[in-house]
Amino acid sequence: MTTSRPAAVVILAAGEGTRMKSSTPKVLHPIGGRSLLGHAIAAARGLQPHHLAVVVRHERDRVAAHVADVAPDAVIADQDEVKGTGRATECGLDALPSPLTGTVLVTYGDVPLLTTDTLAALLDRHDSAGCAATVLTAHVQDPTGYGRILRDSDGTVTGIVEQKDATEEQRQITEINSGIYAFDGDLLRDALAEVGTDNVQGEKYLTDVLGLARSRGLSVQTHLIEDLWQTEGVNDRVQLARMGAELNRRVVESHQRAGVTIVDPATTWIDVDVTIGQDTVIQPNCQLLGATSIGTEARIGPDCTIESCEIGDGAEVKRTEAHHAVIGDGATVGPFSYLRPGTELGVKGKIGGFVETKNAQIGDGAKVPHLTYCGDAVIGPGANIGAGTIFANYDGVAKHQTYVGADSFVGSQTVLVAPVSVADGCYVAAGSALTDDTQPGQIAVARGRQRNIDGWVARRRAGTRTDASARAAAAATEQTGQTTSQETQK
Ligand code: UD1
Ligand code: CA
Repeated sequence: MTTSRPAAVVILAAGEGTRMKSSTPKVLHPIGGRSLLGHAIAAARGLQPHHLAVVVRHERDRVAAHVADVAPDAVIADQDEVKGTGRATECGLDALPSPLTGTVLVTYGDVPLLTTDTLAALLDRHDSAGCAATVLTAHVQDPTGYGRILRDSDGTVTGIVEQKDATEEQRQITEINSGIYAFDGDLLRDALAEVGTDNVQGEKYLTDVLGLARSRGLSVQTHLIEDLWQTEGVNDRVQLARMGAELNRRVVESHQRAGVTIVDPATTWIDVDVTIGQDTVIQPNCQLLGATSIGTEARIGPDCTIESCEIGDGAEVKRTEAHHAVIGDGATVGPFSYLRPGTELGVKGKIGGFVETKNAQIGDGAKVPHLTYCGDAVIGPGANIGAGTIFANYDGVAKHQTYVGADSFVGSQTVLVAPVSVADGCYVAAGSALTDDTQPGQIAVARGRQRNIDGWVARRRAGTRTDASARAAAAATEQTGQTTSQETQK
């Protein structure tokens, strides 16, 4: 398809959406990691229109701020107190340069599954037929609530009638108006100036433009779409979930078709911007969110929530929650790990079970395998952090950094009291509370020495079963001159 760029796309998003029963404007509710309006904007932008206008009114400032955020190049158009899709479109055009020669597409901010391809097909059909207007239509089983496509005896489109204005006979028509159109820009502006509000709802209907075009002897046509999901709007939270599930089904399927194994599509939720390399396997119960990118031949899941992370080729991530983290090629994470923003795990590095990390650069091949809090740290390549180590980064006032050098071994249950630095090639004795920096090749021992006090149990715990065992062990040693078998094993 060689689609030309449309002069403009006008997205209508001024309606209230009361059925959402929400303090958040309807079009800002998300599915697939993007607001409903964000989906409409993305579909429109795919056509590279010369102008993009979003018409707002309800919760104007919040919606406008969101548009500025996701599409800074879009024009915000304010709808006034005159109601209806026709008035909304007119306000959209008023915010754009005049004259607006070429094709203008109109879409809705609450129809999230509509694709750029569908808009491109509509635009193509419109441009090649040279019609005044082309409306995207669908045949549905239950057309209740929709505008119906009216045709004369030879099948030519004559207009659209709204449900509330339709006769009983017209209500039997099952070809519905999706609300998505391509118009000749000049015609649209002229016709809207003539459209009144003389209808049951007292609104200025965009649909009246089709009838007006016909009465001026201009031709109007339809473009039928079979994929009904693409024309479906979201009005309440039941539909929001239904559309979210269908969008997810489509996203999951597109990854499967591109060579990703997704074991359980029903429990795998993937946002629209996520990328996944070939031969990666996604186990059940994973949410892959935001701007996450995953390399090839990685293994993700089961049970992961991964938001805006970069995961390398061949990495393995199990039962993990991770946000804004980088996981290197061949690295392993989990089970039960919590990676917070700023975590960067090197190639073939390891973050193991019950480990929490934040602002932590963990070098290539370095390991933080068990039960550790690792915050504000730089860990060199090949270093090993023993079980239960705590990077004490907060002194109650400020956060401080800890360095652990290349190939150093930090013993289990160490507290690294930041700011502190362990040099390359060091050992830290288990159970240390480290406050002073070390030099390469040293071992740091930062704990009390062990004292064994003879006869303590006999004096202080006389008559207990511990005392009895101690006496029995002492007697056996005396008899054989040897230690008991249990002690030998230790
Ligand atoms: C509209 C169409 C109907 C079509 C249906 C498809 C008209 C008169 N009717 O009906 O033929 O079958 O869509 O869903 O066009 N909006 C504004 N400003 C307004 C009114 C609406 O921006 O003053 C926006 C809404 O935010 C929404 C869209 O336009 O995104 C459609 O509005 P809605 O009230 O749902 O239109 P319907 O009456 O359902
Ligand atoms: Ca509607």
